[in-house]
Amino acid sequence: MAAVIDLRNVSIGYGADAPPVLVGVDLTIERGSFVAIVGPSGVGKSTLLRVVSGLHEARTGDVTIHRDPRPDSRAVGLVFQDPRLLPWRRVARNVRLGLEGLAIAAADRDRRVEQALKLVRLDGDYGRRWPYELSGGQRQRVGIARALAVDPEILLMDEPFGALDAITRHGLQDELLRIHRETGKTVLFVTHDLEEAVHLADRIIVLGGGGAGAGPARIVRDVANQPGRDAIAFRDQVEQLRSGIADNYSI
Ligand SMILES: Nc1ncnc2c1ncn2[C@@H]1O[C@H](COP(=O)(O)OP(=O)(O)O)[C@@H](O)[C@H]1O
Ligand SMILES: [Mg+2]
Repeated sequence: MAAVIDLRNVSIGYGADAPPVLVGVDLTIERGSFVAIVGPSGVGKSTLLRVVSGLHEARTGDVTIHRDPRPDSRAVGLVFQDPRLLPWRRVARNVRLGLEGLAIAAADRDRRVEQALKLVRLDGDYGRRWPYELSGGQRQRVGIARALAVDPEILLMDEPFGALDAITRHGLQDELLRIHRETGKTVLFVTHDLEEAVHLADRIIVLGGGGAGAGPARIVRDVANQPGRDAIAFRDQVEQLRSGIADNYSI
């Protein structure tokens, strides 16, 4: 399998004088894999995602995204907890947003929007609705469609289902697994919910070693996972992750 993300000895911080948030990050991610990043709140999960996305620059080390640049696609598509839809744009025009800076003919653009909405099962007349006419789960589907419309090499998701009720969350988790299967996209998925990570990912990266007065965080575990909810393996994996986090974090 080919690597799509390569981080080499990366450290990340905010502001030149502040101590780093993350240090010694070495991480290679295979194309098409579904990787979860877990760890306690404040450990640096979003920070790591921001560096992969290019929104924030690493303090030291090398960050490489392997791809053939294409004028009609982007390296990454981003999905956040809050889908951040523009209330004055209909659903289809929200999905189109990411495509507006790309070199795509108008007809292809409309087709890409339609395909993306279909992928999240919001085809038909949903494209003409306003964001306020959708449920929270549907709004997040639009957020996912907007990220997929740019045909990204990597889908970066930062606690995308964190604000949804349990039933909607479980539904969207299964939809995401289907989308991953259908598109073959590489997914980097941040969550503090270990059950969610074990349900979705084929690999789980645990950040830890930081916390109150404990200095910067780093990768403390990197485990292969069999995604799904098969009862015994699932509980074991969640418990091992939980103790791995507890051993490596001071509250
Ligand atoms: N824009 C920022 N400026 C300064 N410090 C930040 C900024 N964003 C995050 N941090 C700090 O970086 C650390 C990691 O934050 P974050 O990556 O958001 O954690 P997580 O996503 O794991 O909850 C925290 O100590 C946080 O206060
Ligand atoms: Mg975060």
